[in-house]
Amino acid sequence: MAAPILRKFSRTRGFISRFQRNFHLTVQAMGAYDAEFNNAKERLNNLKEDPGNVVKLQIYALFKQATVGKCNAPKPGMLDVVGKYKWNAWNDLGDISQDEAQKQYIELVDSLAGAESAASAGAEATGDQKFETLAVSNAGGIYSITLNRPNKKNAITVQMYEEMISALKEAAEDSTVVIATFTGAGDFYCSGNDLSNFMNIPPEGIEGMAIKGGELLERFVAAFIDFPKPLIGLVNGPAVGVSVTVLGLFDAVYASDRATFHTPFSQLGQSPEGCSSYVFPKLMGAAKASEMLLFNKKISAAEAFNRNLVTQVIPDDVFVKETTAKVQAIAQLPKESMSFSKVLIRDGEREKLHKVNKEECRVLVGRWQSNECMTAIMNFFQQKSSSKL
Ligand code: COA
Repeated sequence: MAAPILRKFSRTRGFISRFQRNFHLTVQAMGAYDAEFNNAKERLNNLKEDPGNVVKLQIYALFKQATVGKCNAPKPGMLDVVGKYKWNAWNDLGDISQDEAQKQYIELVDSLAGAESAASAGAEATGDQKFETLAVSNAGGIYSITLNRPNKKNAITVQMYEEMISALKEAAEDSTVVIATFTGAGDFYCSGNDLSNFMNIPPEGIEGMAIKGGELLERFVAAFIDFPKPLIGLVNGPAVGVSVTVLGLFDAVYASDRATFHTPFSQLGQSPEGCSSYVFPKLMGAAKASEMLLFNKKISAAEAFNRNLVTQVIPDDVFVKETTAKVQAIAQLPKESMSFSKVLIRDGEREKLHKVNKEECRVLVGRWQSNECMTAIMNFFQQKSSSKL
């Protein structure tokens, strides 16, 4: 999961100004594109949405190259995680000229401003939504939750964790709701915890970030443990990390034959969550669970079915049609009877699951502060940043 600290930039218009104050030197550019470059700096200030850490690193690097030239700063030490990201991004620009850096900076700001005006036109057309990171509908007894950040493969930000907790609470409390479903927008079900949650380190430092992340994760998983109505996963594509582990707490999981299931915790210097350290060995046996949770094995939908993580695999071309029919049929079943049956099936384990959840989060709080974890996350963003330059 999740460490918090990703501030809700989208609600704070001044984030780019803060970003520029923090990351830009007050150096004046001197190049072929001076006027457009200065204009691009101004337009950057007016963006409403956070472009994400990878893009912010690119902006930083191009600005430095445009105003100072080739990277001439000493490489920051291991403990200065943010400084190292910035230095690497700048250094990766190598020998490109200051004019070329100005040009790329202007193009990047142009593309951000263009994407934002297209998105705001779309938002006006659909009107105000209760959730920003989820698309939720509530009709015919079916509370349907769609993870809705397709451009980021539905990676889970702090805001999305909070919104999923609120949505589950609403579905639990609304007496017209019979069942709840989860699916993903776009080609992915979910790429797990948004790794940029780890990069916005608060003034209280990494430890504070990890503790808050542990609290959030525990509340998030508890919302699944305690959900009183049938909960159905509609895994429309690849699933990673916490989006896989919590599936063990669902009552049915239908997967497209395009879906894969991947829990790369060791690879990321982390450890299992979502009660998977307890539920997965029960579902599939210890050896098969370890293959996933310790050794990072990515499994297909068919393998997930064989391991009892998935109820049924459905061909991708009929996935939406067939699951819609299934969900509608389930929602017609007598709702009280289903609730009593769920209590009988799940309640004997509930206390144990809360204990497991607490312990998994305690271990993760330590893992998130480890060098193994920080290095793995830094490598992910470094690779993304380098592949764009
Ligand atoms: N956290 C943050 N950003 C993520 C993300 C995650 N978990 N998963 C995807 N993204 C972002 C990418 O950085 C990229 O952003 P960009 O367009 O600004 O560069 C965008 O989503 C699209 O992803 P991309 O990597 O280009 O797509 P892909 O099809 O090549 O690969 C994944 C998809 C999910 C396999 C790959 O992004 C990945 O490995 N993500 C990390 C998954 C992970 O480790 N999750 C945590 C588990 S504990």
